[in-house]
Amino acid sequence: MPTESARFPRIRMRRSRASSWSRELVREHRLAPADFLWPVFVIEGSGMAQPIASMPGVFRLTIDRLVPAAAEAAALGIPVMALFPMIDPARKTNDGAESIRADNLVCRAVKAVKQAVPEIGIMCDAALDPFTDHGHDGIVIDGRIANDETVAQLVHQSLVQVEAGCDIIAPSDMMDGRIGAIRDALEAAGHQDTIILSYAAKYASAFYGPFRDAVGSPRQIGKQGKTTYQMDAGNGDEALREVALDIAEGADWVMVKPGMPYLDILRRVKERFGMPTFVYQVSGEYAMLQAAGQNGWLDGDRAMMEALLGFKRAGADGILTYAAVDIAKRLKAES
Ligand code: PBG
Repeated sequence: MPTESARFPRIRMRRSRASSWSRELVREHRLAPADFLWPVFVIEGSGMAQPIASMPGVFRLTIDRLVPAAAEAAALGIPVMALFPMIDPARKTNDGAESIRADNLVCRAVKAVKQAVPEIGIMCDAALDPFTDHGHDGIVIDGRIANDETVAQLVHQSLVQVEAGCDIIAPSDMMDGRIGAIRDALEAAGHQDTIILSYAAKYASAFYGPFRDAVGSPRQIGKQGKTTYQMDAGNGDEALREVALDIAEGADWVMVKPGMPYLDILRRVKERFGMPTFVYQVSGEYAMLQAAGQNGWLDGDRAMMEALLGFKRAGADGILTYAAVDIAKRLKAES
């Protein structure tokens, strides 16, 4: 920190702010397309882009529409696309068995993008919720989320997705021990270069509502929701333990989720561990900004840029945001 031994008027903070060129020169943080990971929803069928009412500007894409979208993102300099499937309800079960079928929607989407746009990184969640009929991220046995049985299923799901060509496995389920189990299985299967991006500090949040609409999961899941596995919003130190465990188990990168209400956690994680650290600006954060923008209550674009820049200032190396393509275009137009 600079020591402020001199005083006003020798010091005038406004000198550096007086002109555009000097503001540019002293700016500490900037956004670039390379900061973004773009989450995209995929559906069965062809030729469709289905709007999602609670996420204005976001669409569920059929694979034939996903491929050109991936090409556009890559051309804009966005490094990673994260794929989330909306599964036919008839294929959903308690154990989410559809998640381990090698020819399921996600795997076909991964293959199609990999083949047509090999230059973009592909991330897939390891989590059962898009595939379970109850919407939980785990298998329910005797009314409880069965940790170890779920981990076994996640290992299988990860292998299937990596074999389809997925580059980054992102466990988003918050079961205990899943990073180590997935890492060991990947090594044993010869997938030594697969990156594990752990949703390490993931909170039980009201801000996931629109995402659940997007993948066709129930909004409210039982009385407890996901509170028996996702973190309690009142806890900060616990997030550091979660992150430490995932690093010890073999995570390459870690994530904090949601973003804006957890900026303190992001900063603490980055400072404590110095790992590649990511943040997820989740569906509810996106929806709030879009809604206020559409109503003219906020300048939506500027508010979005400011929210994203806040993540970088707080220590994020990259940001998952549904606005990735829009903002990348905007940044390009401004440069
Ligand atoms: C599934 C998953 C969720 C999100 C990403 N992966 C929802 C949840 O845990 O309920 C949320 C993303 C968002 O809200 O944008 N495990």
